Amino acid sequence: MSAAATTPPADDAELAGRHVVLGLSGGIACYKSAELARELVKAGATVQVVMTEAAGQFVTAVTMQALSNRPVYTSQWDARAPNNMAHINLTRDADALLVAPASADFVAKLAQGRADDLLSLACLARPIERCALLLAPAMNREMWAHPATQRNAAQVAADGAVLLGPAAGDQACGEVGDGRMLEPQELRDALIAHFQPKLLAGRRVLVTAGPTYEAIDPVRGITNLSSGKMGFALARAAADAGAEVTLVAGPVALPTPRGVRRIDVRSAQQMHDTVLPLAPRHDVFVATAAVADWRPAQAAGHKLKKADGHVAPAIAMVENPDILATVARLPDAPYCVGFAAESHDLVRHAREKRQRKGVPLIVGNVGPDTFGRDHNALLLVEADGEHEIGNGHKLALARRLVVEIARRLPAAGAAR
Ligand code: CTP
Repeated sequence: MSAAATTPPADDAELAGRHVVLGLSGGIACYKSAELARELVKAGATVQVVMTEAAGQFVTAVTMQALSNRPVYTSQWDARAPNNMAHINLTRDADALLVAPASADFVAKLAQGRADDLLSLACLARPIERCALLLAPAMNREMWAHPATQRNAAQVAADGAVLLGPAAGDQACGEVGDGRMLEPQELRDALIAHFQPKLLAGRRVLVTAGPTYEAIDPVRGITNLSSGKMGFALARAAADAGAEVTLVAGPVALPTPRGVRRIDVRSAQQMHDTVLPLAPRHDVFVATAAVADWRPAQAAGHKLKKADGHVAPAIAMVENPDILATVARLPDAPYCVGFAAESHDLVRHAREKRQRKGVPLIVGNVGPDTFGRDHNALLLVEADGEHEIGNGHKLALARRLVVEIARRLPAAGAAR
């Protein structure tokens, strides 16, 4: 399996209303394209499959029709199109043409602008401004590394195609290296990302996420119920919106969103020491982490044993640094967004927290209602009042929050 992983899709179908032409050229990765068709349909897209003759050696049109709910096109001579111009019609109402797998031969063909079968014809005949061409290369590592393939890949990219992958890993031929097609869920997420407005293009966003873990001894510690899901969703939404994203994550087992640079830390002090030097190089800092307020003054070097008489040990605690407040006080502070997870009196606490931390925006939520769950409800608290941005899946809320943050940023290039 590929090392890269994906975040689950929002439950609101993120490809609803999108029409996608899914092209298959010949390669063993065609077996993954069946799953991909299913993922795209599940995400709400209508999917029109086009297969080359070679793809038909690996997976049948019957399979692809059943999964896409539409007859598959395989030939430019297909008489079903009333005007007999399937190669033109196919992309006229399409939002994107995704070729997965894109074989070495198919990429070579596109690089030369050749069009001797239906899929390459459709690629050439697509309205280039309206219908993006995304290619998921899949081939043996030597084929991918070959200068001819590299030259062709660079040429199709220069001609406007978007290359998705390939990934490195085990290959069907038994070799290991670059050339694996991305996994179906990764391709689905890449397509979803492709359609997001690039509201944060050129911006750098720093996010903290998850709980922290404060060691008592080598086997015990103090932590909290934060799952990290909101912060990871935010990192993904910001990256999908075109930002360069750094995610400083406490101990969570979540997969890293595509295109996000992740730095794992454990304690509040480590999170602080990691964030502080990075913050001035970012335009936005979003603190979603549930940072422990206190830590044991001294972590024991050895496991604490039950003393005679089973007297519970007294653990002296010291306060952790407040990462958000410290960043907000920096002379070259990025635009700072805090989160307030409260159990009661959300508005009052969030207002007070905004002032105390010296940040322009606090996002309030009710902690016990959201910890560990996929859904949340968010309230924006700023100087001139509060407003709700509703409830929903954390990824959908993160996308809304990205819109709100982008709206509040000074114009790119303006002094902070
Ligand atoms: N925060 C932080 N560093 C800390 C504590 C909190 O960066 N040491 C950030 C959180 O990431 C969040 C915001 O500050 O964005 C509010 O965190 P919260 O735990 O709700 O606030 P506290 O200041 O700890 O107040 P309290 O626990 O009393 O509610």
